[in-house]
Amino acid sequence: MPPRELQQIIRSIPTSDGGGVKLRRSLGQSQSHRLDPFLMLDEFSSTNADDYIAGFPDHPHRGFETITYMLDGHMLHEDHLGNKGDLKSGGAQWMKAGRGIIHSEMPQQESGRMRGFQLWINLPAKEKMLVASYQDVKPEETPIMSLAKGGTVKIIAGNTEIEGKSISGPIQDISSKALIVDVRLPAGASIKLPINPDHNAFIYPFEGKVSIGSDENKRVLESQAAGILSLGDSIEIYAEDQATAFLLLTAHPIKEPIVQYGPFVMNTTEEIEQAIYDYKTGQLV
Ligand code: CO
Repeated sequence: MPPRELQQIIRSIPTSDGGGVKLRRSLGQSQSHRLDPFLMLDEFSSTNADDYIAGFPDHPHRGFETITYMLDGHMLHEDHLGNKGDLKSGGAQWMKAGRGIIHSEMPQQESGRMRGFQLWINLPAKEKMLVASYQDVKPEETPIMSLAKGGTVKIIAGNTEIEGKSISGPIQDISSKALIVDVRLPAGASIKLPINPDHNAFIYPFEGKVSIGSDENKRVLESQAAGILSLGDSIEIYAEDQATAFLLLTAHPIKEPIVQYGPFVMNTTEEIEQAIYDYKTGQLV
């Protein structure tokens, strides 16, 4: 199988969500900008408290999973199940909303930098109405592997092999077997990774740009854009003349119809109407 190449670029656009948190949305900016099973990727990054202080007050989800990964800052997650998650720099949380979760994520700082990601991953029909579950991941629970020629790979979810060594992330229960890694490369360095040939995959550089693909087909992906990859069983990524930091995300596609209404993602319009009714009548969770 050939290595994967950069097939499509989705540049992020500025928007806001929650109580008015400023963020950049790549996947999910419209219903045609998705990569099954990934529904949405938001990046929030600001040193101005006005951009994040309103946080994400109580709101519902149904029908999918969320991952929040913090690079800098401190947020507190609380949900109707009684979970409390202190989300600090380098930490993450995973939530399977299933039939319903009501939660809040509020900044625990009044100044300084807040930077991180929220990712939505779809659930197959048979798991959309299961009871919600939650996992809080502390920064020290996330393995970081150093690369022989410089750079690091931090694994947040799933399993992979790096320079011949198997490595597993703390989040293992994502339905679509998602792999989520945070890769840092110094200028001039590169990384080659195997990728499950059945997975859809994309890359999101958040510092510096990357080049992707084999020599004759190398293409550049600028910072703050999602690069959708072609199919293949491996990927080669290069930092050119500057250091780079990016997320690589892969997962098994679900191949089912999607009907989304805000924080509810189901298969049919009837199921969305049911979700709205359940939420209004206090029966979501
Ligand atoms: Co939420």
